[in-house]
Amino acid sequence: MSGRLHGRRAIVTGAGSGIGAAVAKRLAADGARVFTSDLQGEVDQVADVTADGASEALVGAAVDAMGGLDTLVPCAGISAFAPLEGHSDAYFRQVLEVNLVAVFRLVRDAAPLLKAAGNGRVVTIGSTTSSFGDEGLCAYSASKHAILGFTKSAAAELGPHGVTVNCVQPGAIDTPMTAPAFEQMPEYRTFWENKAPLRRLGRAGDIADVVAFLCSDDARFMSGHGLWVDGGAMVRH
Ligand SMILES: NC(=O)c1ccc[n+]([C@@H]2O[C@H](COP(=O)([O-])OP(=O)(O)OC[C@H]3O[C@@H](n4cnc5c(N)ncnc54)[C@H](O)[C@@H]3O)[C@@H](O)[C@H]2O)c1
Repeated sequence: MSGRLHGRRAIVTGAGSGIGAAVAKRLAADGARVFTSDLQGEVDQVADVTADGASEALVGAAVDAMGGLDTLVPCAGISAFAPLEGHSDAYFRQVLEVNLVAVFRLVRDAAPLLKAAGNGRVVTIGSTTSSFGDEGLCAYSASKHAILGFTKSAAAELGPHGVTVNCVQPGAIDTPMTAPAFEQMPEYRTFWENKAPLRRLGRAGDIADVVAFLCSDDARFMSGHGLWVDGGAMVRH
């Protein structure tokens, strides 16, 4: 592709599937070196982002493999539909651990390297439910609202060191995360297809292309944003 990320050294979590896999592929196609991590799939490191010491281990392994680090795209995430009264404490905590706390730890532990790079990049993955709620998604939406808030504060704090921090907020994307819901509830799939003025579900590549832009020098003066990448669906909310 463009080579515009030549020289960048990136960590992508959740890279074994869906959006994370597409992001890893796109960053590499644009010239970045990429260190991938996930619980499963063809990745450089198989690890649970919620495990004790996981973020230090990931940063250390990435630096060993690439000789440095200037870009983070934490894509690992979990979601399931459950009514509020069916949310156990353990489920609620697990969603926050994966979607929020693990991202915070990774950014914190990589911050010295991102700052030293002088042009560090962090792209978090929120959701349109970072801005709105939906039935069955109390834990997920709470985690995704929180990641947007985290993104804005990290942008404020790391900006003086040349680090940009932005949050991509995908709409309904056709990935293994959403496949079970779309299979069990075809009307849900049709709802999202029709809600988007562009009249389709998103593809993982639609998100990866925006992430690559945010990692590039073209986005050097953008920070603290939440960007809906949703086929326009949210204009109707
Ligand atoms: N698919 C959508 O419609 C959609 C919409 C908005 C936001 N997102 C977000 O995009 C990101 C990627 O989702 P996706 O649709 O590609 O889903 P996916 O299920 O295809 O991929 C998520 C990956 O995260 C990994 N993962 C989960 N828990 C982990 C853990 N504890 N440690 C390490 N890896 C772990 C999984 O193994 C999986 O490979 C998530 O943050 C998700 O919330 C997805």
